[in-house]
Amino acid sequence: MFAAMRYENYCLHLIDQRRLPSEETWLDCADLESVALAIEDMVVRGAPAIGCAAAWGVAIDAHNHKKLGTWAGYKTTFLASLERMARTRPTAVNLFYALNAMKRETESFDGAMAMVAIAERLIEKARFLSDDDIRTCKAIGEHGASLFNKPLHILTHCNTGSLATAGYGTALGIIRTLHDKGLVKNVWVDETRPYLQGSRLTAFELGQDKIPYSLITDNMAAYLMQLGRVDLVVVGADRIATNGDTANKIGTYGLAVLCRHHNIPFVVAAPKATIDFGIESGARIPVEERPAGELREIQGIAIAPADARVWNPSFDITPAELIYAIVTEDGVFKGPSFKLRA
Ligand code: MRU
Repeated sequence: MFAAMRYENYCLHLIDQRRLPSEETWLDCADLESVALAIEDMVVRGAPAIGCAAAWGVAIDAHNHKKLGTWAGYKTTFLASLERMARTRPTAVNLFYALNAMKRETESFDGAMAMVAIAERLIEKARFLSDDDIRTCKAIGEHGASLFNKPLHILTHCNTGSLATAGYGTALGIIRTLHDKGLVKNVWVDETRPYLQGSRLTAFELGQDKIPYSLITDNMAAYLMQLGRVDLVVVGADRIATNGDTANKIGTYGLAVLCRHHNIPFVVAAPKATIDFGIESGARIPVEERPAGELREIQGIAIAPADARVWNPSFDITPAELIYAIVTEDGVFKGPSFKLRA
């Protein structure tokens, strides 16, 4: 299974997901700013992976400021580093969950604590968050798979696999577990315009794991469902409100509407770290808008007039009423009236 990141000796190695599947290039991020830029530029993407990368970036930052001597000398810089990281991408709440976890770790530090010890504590915390994400994904896989006992044709959107998490995946974790149980007939992989996370990353991951899949463009899903060739749609999430409204990759809402029309279960898979316990509805989820170039060009080749006006929201909000179940590491929560609690 391909990993999105690897930490070694105060350096975060990130596979450059912009270049997959044609090239396997690793970027070495040895400071906070290079990790922040990697998140902004989509070198690393996917809600849980963004959170883990941010945590590693913050830990590496502490190591790089050893000269400041003590917590008293570093605290202001630390808070500014958290703020820088928080500005990278607005929608995936896992980023803020990870930054809060790093901040909470420092609450027991006293002013005289040495920077060497601080860096080690923050590295241990980043390692814990990463390992915990893998455990969480495996639990999501088991809980989600327990819903089904017949071989399925499954449709998924975007990339929610080991590239989008610390490993294994959320929606793709459920698909992996179903596959291990012999319950996957085929996975329909939505190409996922405009950034092509489906065709470039999900198809790549499924191929590596020898899980049978077929690639479709996003606008083929409706016809496939009309033909009765989809039994389940499973997607990940970037932020879930406590009523179950879910932000995920643009195109997700359309799939949920289609599922309702065709009576197909629409399942959301995400760690509890993706639930924003501070908001009770999707109306308050900030939706990132990405650059126009993502619609005007594909890998440098123009597919629209260079000056075409563009609207490029990266996510949409699926109302809870369209969601059959939300699967977290704690189990399966059936809709449509979710009351998610910490
Ligand atoms: O813009 P991206 O590629 O970061 O968006 C990713 C998604 O929307 C995923 O579906 C979501 O983060 C869940 S990943 C386990």
